[in-house]
Amino acid sequence: MAGAFEAIGPEPVVTVGAAAFRDAMCRLGAAVHVVTTAGPGGKTGFTATAVCSVSDAPPTLLVCLNRRSQGGPILRENKVFCVNTLGADCEAIADVFAGRTGVFNAQRFATGSWFALKTGAPVLAESVVAFDCRVVEIRAVASHNVIFGAVVDIRLGPAGPALVYHDRAYKRV
Ligand SMILES: Cc1cc2nc3c(=O)[nH]c(=O)nc-3n(C[C@H](O)[C@H](O)[C@H](O)COP(=O)(O)O)c2cc1C
Repeated sequence: MAGAFEAIGPEPVVTVGAAAFRDAMCRLGAAVHVVTTAGPGGKTGFTATAVCSVSDAPPTLLVCLNRRSQGGPILRENKVFCVNTLGADCEAIADVFAGRTGVFNAQRFATGSWFALKTGAPVLAESVVAFDCRVVEIRAVASHNVIFGAVVDIRLGPAGPALVYHDRAYKRV
């Protein structure tokens, strides 16, 4: 189904359909991350490929999270998150944090080994790299919240092949 966007100009932007967009996006390979948060709002995490570097001055990245996600209000209240980039052997963790095993919120952390850096957001010991972030801005765009984080700490984990999502499947790179 095609969608209409409120445009900056006088005419509404008529987009391509969602299915065509998803079919096109599956041709892009993307690193797989588990984004975690912990604090007064509770502890949770979710699998995400919509993670992007924004700037190195100061170091900033963004994560796109569907507003229907249970983790959204928790992350908003905690004001911190950690982007854990998964290695090739972390497919099972990706499935848990994508909700594919029917496990939710804090129970998801029964899989993997976890510790904390500066913000208290859970850091996955097995992740190839972890970006510990404080939320600096949240913007609602279409169905998602775009969450901007200032990177306050980094942990380089064991080096090795990365986990990539491409053509609707996990791949080792
Ligand atoms: C490979 C992969 C990538 C995903 N990327 C995103 C993403 O970037 N943003 C998002 O909101 N959901 C993404 N999801 C879906 C969420 O991981 C899933 O809906 C999760 O269960 C959300 O957490 P919740 O159960 O706490 O709502 C992805 C799922 C998979 C399998």
